[in-house]
Amino acid sequence: MPKVIIDCDPGIDDVLALLLAAASPELEIVGITTVSGNVPADMGAGNARKALAQAGRLDIPVYIGEMVPLKGKYVDAMDTHGSDGLGESFLPEIPGVFPEKSAVDFLEEELEKEEISIIALGPLTNLARLFLKRPELVDRVSRLVSMGGNFKSHGNCSPVAEYNYWCDPKAARICYQMFADAGKKIEMAGLDVTRKIVLTPNLLSYMERLDPKTGAFVRKVTGFYMDFHWEYEGIIGCVINDPLAVAYFLDPSLCSGIERYVEVETEGICRGQTVVDSMNFWKKEPNSLVLTETDAGRFMRFFLTRILRKEDGTRWAKEELSCLEQL
Ligand code: RIB
Ligand code: CA
Repeated sequence: MPKVIIDCDPGIDDVLALLLAAASPELEIVGITTVSGNVPADMGAGNARKALAQAGRLDIPVYIGEMVPLKGKYVDAMDTHGSDGLGESFLPEIPGVFPEKSAVDFLEEELEKEEISIIALGPLTNLARLFLKRPELVDRVSRLVSMGGNFKSHGNCSPVAEYNYWCDPKAARICYQMFADAGKKIEMAGLDVTRKIVLTPNLLSYMERLDPKTGAFVRKVTGFYMDFHWEYEGIIGCVINDPLAVAYFLDPSLCSGIERYVEVETEGICRGQTVVDSMNFWKKEPNSLVLTETDAGRFMRFFLTRILRKEDGTRWAKEELSCLEQL
C-alpha cells in the first residue's frame, strides 16, 4: 500500500482528484498539503476539507502551505475556479481547526521517517522550499507525479506555459533540477495528457443518475468551470486535469510517455514553459517521464467506478456500467 502525500491547490479539479484518492483503498493518504495556486493556500485547505467531508474522509489531515511563490507576484486562478475556488458553489465551511504545523514541516517530518510518494496537483512551491532546505530528502521521495507542464500541447495561461508551473516557475525549475541532480525522474502529467480528460454534461447527468449525492456535489462545483471552458475554449464540458494524475499514480498503464531531460524557463514571455529535450541536444540524463498519451475512456471508467456509490454505499461494478464502454 503506497504511502502518499497529496500537495494541491483546491481548485475544482483538485477536489475531484481528492474524491478519487479518498475512494481508493490502495492508497494510504498520510496527509494533504495545500499551496497557493488556483486559490490561496489557506482557502485551499478549507476546500480540501470540503472534498474530504464529501468523501467521508475527514480522518485525513490537511496542512496549509506556502502562500506566495518563491519569486515574483502570486497570481491566482479564481477567474477559472471562482472566488471560493469551488466554482462559486459556496459550500459551507467544515468546522475544525488546521494544525499549526506548516505543510513544509509536515512534508519534512514524514520524509524523514520513511520513503513516501507525492502527488503534486498545484504549483511546486512547497516541494521546492522543502528540497532547498533538505536536498537529501529528494532521495526519500519514492515517486513524484506532478500535474503540470506541457510538451507539444499549447499552454493554458500563456501561449507556452501551463498554470502550475507558470504560477511558480522558479519552484518548478528547482524541483526538476534537484531531481536531475539526484538521478531521479519526475512523472510529468502535463496538458498533453490531461487535456484529453473532459467531463461532459452527459457524463455529469449519468453520474447524477447513478449516484445523486456525488453527482450533485460534482455539478455544484463544476458548473462555473464548464461555463469558463465554453466561453474561453469553446469546449462543452470541462477539462479535469488533476484526477488523471491520481489515476495514473494508481494505475500507470493509463498513460505512456518518454523519458527526457526537462528544464523550466523562469523569465520573460516563455516564463513557466517546460523545455523538453526530446531530441537529446543537451546530452543530459532524463529527469522526467513526460506523459504524452492516455486512454481517456479507460480513465473515465476508472474514475466513475471509484467515486460513485450505490444507495447502499457499495461501488458500481464496471460490468453494471456498460454504457461507459462507449467512452
Ligand atoms: O493547469 C492546470 C492545473 O492548474 C490544474 O492542477 C489546476 O487545478 C491548476 O492547479
Ligand atoms: Ca490543481
